[in-house]
Amino acid sequence: MIRIAAISGSLRKASLNTSLLRACIANAPEGTEISVGSLRGIPLYDGDLETAEGLPPAVVALKTLIRETDGLLIVTPEYNNSMPGVLKNAIDWASRGGDMKAVFGGKPVAVAGASPGGFGTVLSQTAWLPVLKTLGAVQWSGAKLLVSRADTLFDAAGKLTDEKTKENVQAFLAGFADFVRAGAGK
Ligand SMILES: Cc1cc2nc3c(=O)[nH]c(=O)nc-3n(C[C@H](O)[C@H](O)[C@H](O)COP(=O)(O)O)c2cc1C
Repeated sequence: MIRIAAISGSLRKASLNTSLLRACIANAPEGTEISVGSLRGIPLYDGDLETAEGLPPAVVALKTLIRETDGLLIVTPEYNNSMPGVLKNAIDWASRGGDMKAVFGGKPVAVAGASPGGFGTVLSQTAWLPVLKTLGAVQWSGAKLLVSRADTLFDAAGKLTDEKTKENVQAFLAGFADFVRAGAGK
């Protein structure tokens, strides 16, 4: 069994990226278990808060999930041609505590994203590259999941209705699961 942690970089109830994450869960290959980590409750990074109180509970929970799973799936919106601050803030917090290597070192990471625009978060996904490199994670580049015009691909309940996108999601997850399995030596 491959265990994957997954994070959506949007707090919005009707988030296209959270819908895409759900589609990833629904279309993951057999033998894959995806557990969702949350950004909810993570404060803005503040070094004084860290010194006074250590890591906030929501950060500890996220770090624990990432550390205890075999791979990480980041489903990232694109804001102003880069990643959203709320998601970068969460990863910045998760890199703290002196155990960044244990949490992120050698961790297989897949980055996907959805946008109502025509480029499907390509610039946001590219912006994650130097961050993941700095964390010591291993970004999987075997396939891309750039979901453009995403506002036309999900129904009102957030369920993926577009068959072509569903096939892309399936192929993306299958490829990433193979990569994780190989990396985890399973
Ligand atoms: C501050 C801000 C900046 C944005 N910049 C971009 C952008 O550069 N490229 C893009 O494709 N969409 C951009 N968008 C539109 C988002 O892709 C869109 O709001 C999307 O639905 C956000 O993801 P979510 O549905 O998961 O919350 C931006 C949205 C916001 C709020």
